[in-house]
Amino acid sequence: MKNSKSVVVKVPATAANLGPGFDSLGLALTLYNSFEFSLQENEVEVSGCREEFCNTENLAVTSFFHCWKLFGMSETGVSLKIKSDVPVGSGLGSSSTCVVAGVMAANILAEKGLSREELVEIATEIEGHPDNVAPAILGKMVIAVQENQNIFCNVLTVATGLQFVAMTPNYSVSTEKARELLPDSLSFADAVFNVGRVGLLISSLVNGNFHNLQAAFKDRLHEPCRSKLIKEWDDVCNFAENVRAEAFFISGSGPTVILVFQDNGKAYFDKIQNQISEALPNWTARELRIDWQGARTKLVKSE
Ligand code: HSE
Repeated sequence: MKNSKSVVVKVPATAANLGPGFDSLGLALTLYNSFEFSLQENEVEVSGCREEFCNTENLAVTSFFHCWKLFGMSETGVSLKIKSDVPVGSGLGSSSTCVVAGVMAANILAEKGLSREELVEIATEIEGHPDNVAPAILGKMVIAVQENQNIFCNVLTVATGLQFVAMTPNYSVSTEKARELLPDSLSFADAVFNVGRVGLLISSLVNGNFHNLQAAFKDRLHEPCRSKLIKEWDDVCNFAENVRAEAFFISGSGPTVILVFQDNGKAYFDKIQNQISEALPNWTARELRIDWQGARTKLVKSE
């Protein structure tokens, strides 16, 4: 296929289930996966990722073809080259980067011109919940609620002055298994505990009232059961308290735990990173900020 079009989609990692905002509140982060889709005749070729994902079942590929069919496009092959920095199965939204990449690439290559909000709806249908895909597409912090096929969401600008340290162990957690652990019901007191904190968290992050964060990030919906999947949970909690993090929370379904600090700069991160490698040698620390833009696309013409 001569002069076929290619598009590169760069998608941010995300922290879903932000504090008490289970399945609805997420943050886009400055860690990225990049996907180059090129139309070609008949074949699907995938490279740049783990062998087990280099096939037609690759989530970015299936998401692409989901949209391609939805858009009524005629059959095509596709070549996909991936560059990934987001660890798989870590709670930083690596699956969502694939879904978002596939949906956005199809929108561009099929020349559909759908808005980002419309793409959030399609991506949520594929992913099952909006709290990763919405910030991955829209950037910043996003509160998103699904009602039937519709997504009601707001993008919020978090006040400047925060520094995040994402701590990831050398094992992964399957979101499917982590969802199986969720309780069937919860008490009225726990519902009240979370509902107030969602409002407090959003308003504190937007207004820069960071002294509220210690209470605002707490959660009783998923953290009590999912923390059991993190072998070093008690050590991580002690570590966060010892280094005086403003708050900490399980990112997505874990096992990454994100520590929240008032911004003390790179030297401070280096110090925390050294302390993490001493206290928790199987854990990797990443200094992350908020991604303000969401997924970006670049169209390239190939010969
Ligand atoms: N809200 C989702 C869950 C995020 O906790 O299952 C997982 O990526």
